[in-house]
Order: sequence, then C-alpha cells, then structure tokens
Amino acid sequence: MTTLKISDGLVKDDVLVVGLASTNTKGGIAIESGDLALDVEYLISSLTDLGATGAADEVTKMPGGPARMIVFTGLGSKSTSYSNEILRRAAGSAARMLNGASSATFAFPTKDITAVAAIAEGVALGAYVFNEFRGSTKAERKDALKSATVYTKLASKTEARAAIHRAQIIAKYTHLVRDLINTPPSHLTPDSFTKILTKSFKDAGGLKAGLKVKIWDEKQLKTQGFGGIIGVGQGSANPPRLLHIEYTPKARNTKRYAFIGKGITFDTGGLNLKPGLGMEAMKSDMSGAAAVCAATLAIAELGLPVAIECWAPLAENMPSDSATRPSDIITIFGGKTVEVLNPDAEGRLVLADGLVKAQESKNKLDGIIDVATLTGAQVIALGTRTSAVMTNNQKFSDSFLEASKDAGEQFWPMPLPVELRASLDSPVADLANIGDKNGGMLVAGLFLKDFVSNELPWLHLDIAGPAYNEGKAHGYTPVGGTGIALRSLVRLVEQA
Ligand code: BES
Ligand code: MN
Ligand code: ZN
Repeated sequence: MTTLKISDGLVKDDVLVVGLASTNTKGGIAIESGDLALDVEYLISSLTDLGATGAADEVTKMPGGPARMIVFTGLGSKSTSYSNEILRRAAGSAARMLNGASSATFAFPTKDITAVAAIAEGVALGAYVFNEFRGSTKAERKDALKSATVYTKLASKTEARAAIHRAQIIAKYTHLVRDLINTPPSHLTPDSFTKILTKSFKDAGGLKAGLKVKIWDEKQLKTQGFGGIIGVGQGSANPPRLLHIEYTPKARNTKRYAFIGKGITFDTGGLNLKPGLGMEAMKSDMSGAAAVCAATLAIAELGLPVAIECWAPLAENMPSDSATRPSDIITIFGGKTVEVLNPDAEGRLVLADGLVKAQESKNKLDGIIDVATLTGAQVIALGTRTSAVMTNNQKFSDSFLEASKDAGEQFWPMPLPVELRASLDSPVADLANIGDKNGGMLVAGLFLKDFVSNELPWLHLDIAGPAYNEGKAHGYTPVGGTGIALRSLVRLVEQA
C-alpha cells in the first residue's frame, strides 16, 4: 500500500507528477501544477516535441525537473475548476505508471479539500498491483509506488490531513476487494473467504473497533433452513458459508443499515453450464460480498456513526451429481419456496436467504442494500462502467445516487415494472427463479423485491459489468477486480 503524505514545502520525492491540459488553441497545452511553480516555457516546448496533448489517460514521462523525473498526466480540456473525478483519474493514471518507483509528489490544482481528497484517492487507488501468484523471478513483479505526497497550500489544514487519512483507508479496503476478486477459485472458496475476512476484521481493530463476526457452516445452514445458500452450494466440494459482520459505533441512537453481498466464489452456471468462452471472469461473482464486507470494515475503521449489519452468503455454483437440478424446489430462509428452473440464476437465491435473514434483526433497520454481479442483462443495458440501482424507495435511491456521484462511481437508476413480476410465477412453487428474458436485470430485481418488506427502504445494486475490468486499465481502475460500490457505500454512510 502506498503511504500518503501531504506537503506545501520543498519537493523531496524522486518523481514529480503534474497535470497537463489541452487549451482552446490548436495543439495547445498547459501545465497544471497547482500551487507548485515550474519553469513552464522550457517544459511546454519539450512536451510539444513529444506530441503530448493533455488528453485524459495520456501519461508522458521526462527526465529532470525539480525531481529526477517529471510525469505529465492528462486532465483533458483546460478549466478553472477541474471536477474531482478528473483529478482522481489523472492521479490514478500516473500512479499506475509508477510501479517500482519509491516516491512521487503529485502537484495538481487543489481548489478545496475535496480536490485534495480526490487526488489522494486517485493515487492510492491507481497504485495497485496483484502479484500474489507471480513467480518471484518474473520481471513484472514490481511493487506499486511506495510513497506519495499530495502538494497543496492546504497542507496545514486539519481537514486536509483527515482527507489523506480517509483516502488511505478507502484505498486499503478497495485493494482488499480487488485482491479477493482477483484470487482464483483454486485459492478462494466460501471457507477461505471467511478466513481472509476474519484476518482483515482483526486488522481493522476487531472487537475494540466495535466489530463482531459470525460464520455459519454448511451443517448450520442446513438445519436452520437457508435453502437458497444450500441449494446453490450443494453441487460443490467446497461447502457454502454465511458470513456476518456487525459494526456498532460508539455513538448511540444512530441509523442502522443492512448490507447483503452476493458471494459466489465461482459461477459455472451449475447444471446450466455456462459456455467455456469467458467463464474465467466468473471468479468475480463474489464482488458484491467482497464490497459489502470491506465497506463495513472501512466504515468501522473510519469510526463513522452508523450501525452496519453486513451479510455475505457464500457458495460455489458447480455442476455435479449433488447439484440442484432444473425443476428442483428449494425453501428460502423464512419459508418461501422457489422452483429452480435455471441453476445459473443462483445469485438471487443466496441473496434471498441473506435479505430475509437480515430483516430478522432485533434492531430496527433504516435501510437495506444488496450488492451483486447479478445479471448479464445489466452489462447489455448499461455497459461495463455504469452500474444499476433499483429500489422500493425513491428518496433512498436519490441519496445513494448523490453519494455515488461524490465518490466518483457511475450508477444509474432502473425501474422495477410490476407487470414483469407475473413472469416469475410458478405453477408448483411460490415463485420461479427466472422469468421474462427481456428486461432480465429488472426481473432479477423484482425477484429480490419479493423478499424485502415494502416498508423498509431497499436498494438493489447490480454491478455485473463494472465489478471486473476485462479491458484495459484506465484512470485509477486496474485490469481485473475494480472494487466498485465500496466508495459509494462509505459515502452514503458518511452523508446519513
Ligand atoms: N453471475 C451471473 C451474471 C453475470 C454475467 C455477472 C456476466 C457478470 C458478468 C449470474 O449468476 C447469471 O448467470 N445470470 C444469468 C441469469 C439468467 C439465467 C436469468 C444471466 O444473466 O444470464
Ligand atoms: Mn449464474
Ligand atoms: Zn452468478
């Protein structure tokens, strides 16, 4: 993890990173180094020779400057007030190019503390490598940037220091989400997921931080009636688990949210086996569980005054002689029956158990949020960088969308049209696990809605596309697990 610092003094780091913008004049560029003065004329002529344009995600390295190397990172069109997300991405793009470097100063325009926070986040989020499974002799095995300084006149403000501290925690837990997603199912099973989280739970301060953890094994899940988790997990040699993390803040009479994350450590499709092409991406089918668990630990480490009850139903969806067959009927926790017409629609089954269990809480909940890589239809509808929000409560959804905007995560509201619900009717059970193919993302949302009280504000986040980046790295987003949803959840809690 990159150590973040803040300064307005002499640049002491090996590398200096500054912004580069494109101006109105044809081919014109402008250096944006915020509060740090530079010999601009000389640099501009070199940059022009190199063909630098200042476009987003363009990173240009040059020897010299006040450090050993100067790095220019694109901000797009020149502006008097860059958005925080532009700064976050530009910082991230540069940080990604600095693997193996020991220290870098980032000098960008910082109009206020939120800009300082965004730059710090972008750096720490971009400085991520997943080298867990590389041979030690491999040349690519370079560590991420070790230390980074955000350069700003606001350095002495206590709010600036708090922003740096917060960015450090956000990055630490986003990296945890990414690591979990990138770890293949040979090394990540429902059981090992609970073990990794138990270790992180201790690192986050454990009981002293107001945290509690509880794990159900397959026997307990069976005897206590978690038919969704059992039904999905019974085809696998790696038995299912249910992980519960509870955070109780020091402050009393606070709001209380429940988080539920889809934790399929690998989704083969079960007996509705998925085609081989692209199946490897299904190691990311536990992204929701990773995001809610890590968000809960981040909220605890930040000491935020909101109680969280986090649930991660964990299972591996495999085909075998013990797997759930199409037409099997399972009983979700609480008694509703589901005809499993397609064992590949498994996420909604484990989430249903989780949603019902979460609503058994002895304490009154102010909101319940599930996070899941739930449908391919989400990717078709919104692409790979925009996630969907569905809800039974407009106000709750609006405040979440505001939080996600602040956090720099793209979410978009989607409807839950009542007329689609009939397609989930079953002739033999309370409902079927698949319905109309058209609007598949909404049908999945309507399935979950059946397991949530109408009175309880509920959000369903479908992150199927954005959770896992199969394309090129961009901004602060690496290839593989992205960590999407964590920042929005933390922000929602901060703003509660
Ligand atoms: N995990 C998948 C959804 C998914 C697809 C996530 C692509 C990320 C990228 C989910 O369990 C699934 O298989 N959904 C089915 C549902 C269908 C059978 C109703 C789907 O979307 O095809
Ligand atoms: Mn599936
Ligand atoms: Zn799945």
